[in-house]
Amino acid sequence: MKFFVDTADLKQIEDLLPSGFVDGVTTNPSLIAKQGGNMRETIEKICGIVSGPVSAEVTATDFDSMLKEGEYLASIAKNVAVKVPLTVNGLKTCKKLREKNIMVNVTLCFSAAQALLAAKAGATFISPFVGRLDDIGENGMNLIEDIVVMYENYGFETEVLVASVRTTQHVIDAAVIGAHVATLPPKVIHELYEHPLTKKGLDAFLDDWKKTGQSILPK
Ligand code: E4P
Repeated sequence: MKFFVDTADLKQIEDLLPSGFVDGVTTNPSLIAKQGGNMRETIEKICGIVSGPVSAEVTATDFDSMLKEGEYLASIAKNVAVKVPLTVNGLKTCKKLREKNIMVNVTLCFSAAQALLAAKAGATFISPFVGRLDDIGENGMNLIEDIVVMYENYGFETEVLVASVRTTQHVIDAAVIGAHVATLPPKVIHELYEHPLTKKGLDAFLDDWKKTGQSILPK
């Protein structure tokens, strides 16, 4: 399973890179706005340090402008995946960009029917938002399960990119189902390696070690 980082914060990405957990990055207009600064420069800098796909989202809503924005974003770096919303114009843009061999991430997916259309439009990634579905009392993971089965049934190559991830349990559930990618806020990545028994065990080992008065490296 690949992990993308869901942030436009270059510093947070840089901090996570040595861990080897960063297979790509996703941004959206809200994350870019939160970060401040020029979008093109931000995407350029992220693509300079991350070799995997970096999602950058169009903000136009009509087909011609979406296509122009998509082509422009793709020209920033070879690893840009153009993000388009799951609208009819977004799907048309997806099809056109894929014909030009540009990676496309179809975002704001909330139903299996939408995911089916994105795969038929040749999307590289489909981004179902599990957290936002949970927020309205639905079970986001049921949608992931349906999409994974549907795509397997027909051999679609579109990768299921679990988005709007809020908890470590979301990550585990997505992995058990067999989703290809999860995009995680940095906070959730940090929570993945934390366990109270790891901390407790390490504290005890270090206390006992101190009592021996030894050091592993010769003094
Ligand atoms: C990722 O591609 C999405 O933009 C992101 O995961 C949305 O997450 P949110 O629902 O926490 O804003």
